[in-house]
Amino acid sequence: MNKKIIAVDGPAGAGKSTVSKLVAQKLNYTYIDTGAMYRAVALKVIGLNKPVTEELIVDVARDIDIDLRYEDGITKVFVDGEEVTGKIRTPEVSKAASDVAKSGFVRERLTELQRKMATRGGVIMDGRDIGTHVLPNADLKIYLTASVEERAKRRCDELKAKGFEANIEDIAKDIQARDKQDMEREIAPLKQAEDAILLDTTGMSIDEVVNAILKFYSKIFETSTGEVVGGMIADAILDTVTRAVF
Ligand code: DC
Repeated sequence: MNKKIIAVDGPAGAGKSTVSKLVAQKLNYTYIDTGAMYRAVALKVIGLNKPVTEELIVDVARDIDIDLRYEDGITKVFVDGEEVTGKIRTPEVSKAASDVAKSGFVRERLTELQRKMATRGGVIMDGRDIGTHVLPNADLKIYLTASVEERAKRRCDELKAKGFEANIEDIAKDIQARDKQDMEREIAPLKQAEDAILLDTTGMSIDEVVNAILKFYSKIFETSTGEVVGGMIADAILDTVTRAVF
């Protein structure tokens, strides 16, 4: 079957990576976490312990080697050969990732890498600007969102499950600040693509969200004979599915 490209965008904590990973497993697709790439640049910048200037960020982004490897059911992140999978998930790195993501140079460099990663198809890529900027011709675009309260609660539960202390009000504030910065930056801000399907996951379980996306996928691309369709037929089906799901 002709392998497709799926773009998933949305604000922090909307469940993009959890859901995208599961959809990738079901479809036997490769999952690409572009946020991890911005986090990798941020981690390296912070690690230099120097005043953070655009020049420093550009220097780091120019030379950094970022590798995403899917091993043992998780995406492992390597920076210059060192595994940093856990280190890029701290609140400090989350904030710094949103900061470095404002740099035009960083965005250009990472966009180029992301486009290369998607060339073979069979890819589900999540981020903030995938449907609008990185892969504007993606075959299926999903914009995942949820209320700030729900996103903060999910993050809080996740942290507590891992044994960390977490305060829901602080998390909600961080999420709002990051959303604002990601939506208001000049270059490739977080925005729903015109042709993306909006999925508000407030009150939905992970399985329900995954199933909704798989339903969009199969209704759009698979006919009863397993044939893959696209273009106007896909648009017509999508219209029906959108009305059926919501
Ligand atoms: O999805 P995440 O929380 O891991 O992303 C971390 C930050 O990286 C996010 O605040 C904004 C930035 N980012 C971006 O600007 N563009 C992307 N495609 C992915 C992430």
